[in-house]
Amino acid sequence: MATPSNLDERSTPNDLLEKVTSLCKRRGFIFQSAEIYGGFRSTYDYGPLGVQMLRNVKEQWWKAIVQRRDDVVGLDAAILSPPAIWAASGHLETFTDPLVDCRKCNERWREDKINGVCPNCKSTEFTEPRAFNLMFKTQAGPVEGDGATAYLRPETAQGMFTNFANVLTTMRKKPPFGIAQIGKSFRNEITPGNFVFRTREFEQMELEFFVPPEDAEQWYRYWIEERFNWYLRLGLPEEKLRKNEAAPEDLAHYSKGTTDIEFAFPWGFDELEGVANRGDYDLTAHASASGEKLEYFDQATSTRYTPYVIEPAAGATRAMMAFLLASYTEDEVGGETRSLLRLHPKLAPIQVAILPLSKKPEIEAPAREVLAMLQEHFLCDYDVTQSIGKRYRRQDEVGTPWCVTVDFDTLEDHCVTLRDRDTTMQIRIAISELRSYLLTAMENA
Ligand code: GAP
Repeated sequence: MATPSNLDERSTPNDLLEKVTSLCKRRGFIFQSAEIYGGFRSTYDYGPLGVQMLRNVKEQWWKAIVQRRDDVVGLDAAILSPPAIWAASGHLETFTDPLVDCRKCNERWREDKINGVCPNCKSTEFTEPRAFNLMFKTQAGPVEGDGATAYLRPETAQGMFTNFANVLTTMRKKPPFGIAQIGKSFRNEITPGNFVFRTREFEQMELEFFVPPEDAEQWYRYWIEERFNWYLRLGLPEEKLRKNEAAPEDLAHYSKGTTDIEFAFPWGFDELEGVANRGDYDLTAHASASGEKLEYFDQATSTRYTPYVIEPAAGATRAMMAFLLASYTEDEVGGETRSLLRLHPKLAPIQVAILPLSKKPEIEAPAREVLAMLQEHFLCDYDVTQSIGKRYRRQDEVGTPWCVTVDFDTLEDHCVTLRDRDTTMQIRIAISELRSYLLTAMENA
């Protein structure tokens, strides 16, 4: 086998983006939304393999953040939300981009992105900049008017702040503790693009971790490491990841410290996730706007305080894109080029493919038994079409870590052939040992 390549040496970065985008479409990961109507700009539908991979990304996050910890609980808050939340959070006033129109071709641009020259017609004449709020505004109920205004949330975070007291009392938690949520967020981005990197509808995975103020700095550092290591464990190479701490003068109004975890996207390092020390900004803002007490009373010391918040805020769809880009590889097998996704087995949309070597009933019967046994534990595919070589290539291309072939010898020896995606090595293994072998391989991956 030739040395595998992630295309760094042989191709331009755009090749990688194009190859992954086209693979996503061809193999049922991600489709342009409303394609039969010509497509709806910058919105995407996740196909059969894409929805499964995205679920896997979210499940790995949920396991690491909620399931394996006793200091974090989950939440699923409403997407539709009243203006009061966004007034208190500052989004109504400050969640804006400055927009200008080109006076010659009438194209509309973000002022901070164009260096004074229209990218379309090269004119330098623009209208005065206007503030454009990125929130999607809609109306709740049949009657229009101020009382009916609702917003699609632009982040999941505010749900954790508005439910702080509910969670504190119902779950008997005390700081340090966190509330975690995965869900859709919406931003009317002026410049969406780079495939699913920046879209108007996307999924976030956010944790708000409430701590005593004096411990905030230590927890901030802790969460930067935890989150960085999560990406590493799931297969992003260390040299393609970096931590980028914002200079104090560049911090958002609410932030006492922000470190972006960045990935080497084909156009350069860009944000995967932001980890912020938000101080007591959010709880204080909602307490004063709502009149509710959003504090913690520490009985041990008889003191009342507003916890500080450490927020690791990640994008699920953006993380999935990074995992796809990092895993795309081309190598040579038997003199032929093959493309594969070296996905971590826990992220792969198909984990085991069962491939009977013949459509004869005496082969299909044990193959289906193997399928039924493995389906309880793994995401499986069953494929009887075309030559075995072609079936292996198809599975490699979508990142299936293991293929199991059932052949005529199986009838005699009760063994199957197990093939590894990355090495293409094959071993013969007893059906009775297959499940535990794969479970161990999965755990050790
Ligand atoms: N609560 C803080 C917050 O929302 P953010 O940096 O605006 O922070 C967090 O968003 C993460 O959400 C980003 O790092 C990114 O992964 C993802 N994200 C934000 N806007 C996005 C968009 N338009 N499309 C896809 N992902 C987006």
